[in-house]
Amino acid sequence: MSEKVLLIEDIPVEGSKPAGGVISVWTLNRPEKLNALNADSHVALKEACSRAESDDSVRVVIIRGAAPLPASEGKRQKPAAFAAGADISEFVGKNSDEVRPFFENNAWEKVWNMSKPTIAMVDGFALGGGTELALSCDIRIASNRAKFGTPEINLGLIPGGGGTQRLANILGYGKAMEMVMTGNMVNAEDALRLGLVNDICEPEDLEGSVMKMAENIARKSPYTIKVAKRAVRAALDLPMSEGILAERSEFVALFDTEDKEIGVQAFLERKDADWVGN
Ligand code: COA
Repeated sequence: MSEKVLLIEDIPVEGSKPAGGVISVWTLNRPEKLNALNADSHVALKEACSRAESDDSVRVVIIRGAAPLPASEGKRQKPAAFAAGADISEFVGKNSDEVRPFFENNAWEKVWNMSKPTIAMVDGFALGGGTELALSCDIRIASNRAKFGTPEINLGLIPGGGGTQRLANILGYGKAMEMVMTGNMVNAEDALRLGLVNDICEPEDLEGSVMKMAENIARKSPYTIKVAKRAVRAALDLPMSEGILAERSEFVALFDTEDKEIGVQAFLERKDADWVGN
């Protein structure tokens, strides 16, 4: 079940230190439904998060959608999609008691709470839970045909995968309100202008751009990368004065790591750092 709705490929990172690092590429694989996230997708994503967290070789996670299927007889070609939302067919006839346990233990928060770096590679539609999954990642890179949006309002719903909070955080109050209350889509250029994505490119360049960034991150010390993620994340959870203290404490503690000494010596000796990962 899990393998079908989520394909996982671990791509070795040449020159990673400690050796054996991989970039784990997760492909949401329901192209016939524009990769909409059903209950199985959530189980598979949560399992993948647990595996990546406990596997030292995983340095970066990339989440993407499966490419659209070719047009079949009598049916038009489906559009490209990262994920067109939660699977709406699973909402029919459900009451709050039935959906609460699912939403209290969902994949969006599991991805958000990963200690490892995550990148969303967005080609085509990222709507509803798809936008929310992209927002659960640290970095978003999109093709210029990507479309974001939170159309839940048209279903008599609101975003339920952290979207209201993460949108307000990234876009600011007014733009988040506009997206949530109108349900209108945001195209790639506007997403870039708004800071919803880090970068956009031609669809054919997307994989290369994302891999380049992932490899860059994967070649750093995996230990220091985790600390960096924790420190930046503190800015979202803490008032500035407490965040500064949290950063200082993380920074100072790095002076007791081997990788600090290795990094500093490597700079002075003009060679590549041979990270040990602690
Ligand atoms: N849940 C379940 N199925 C979905 C889906 C979703 N969120 N989004 C798309 N699909 C399915 C469609 O039902 C259709 O299935 P079918 O071929 O078996 O009929 C297939 O994916 C293709 O979608 P379709 O609507 O035919 O493509 P389109 O090009 O006409 O429109 C969208 C694309 C993205 C604009 C449209 O699919 C859409 O609005 N999707 C729902 C978006 C949404 O509201 N997401 C929030 C959910 S909380």
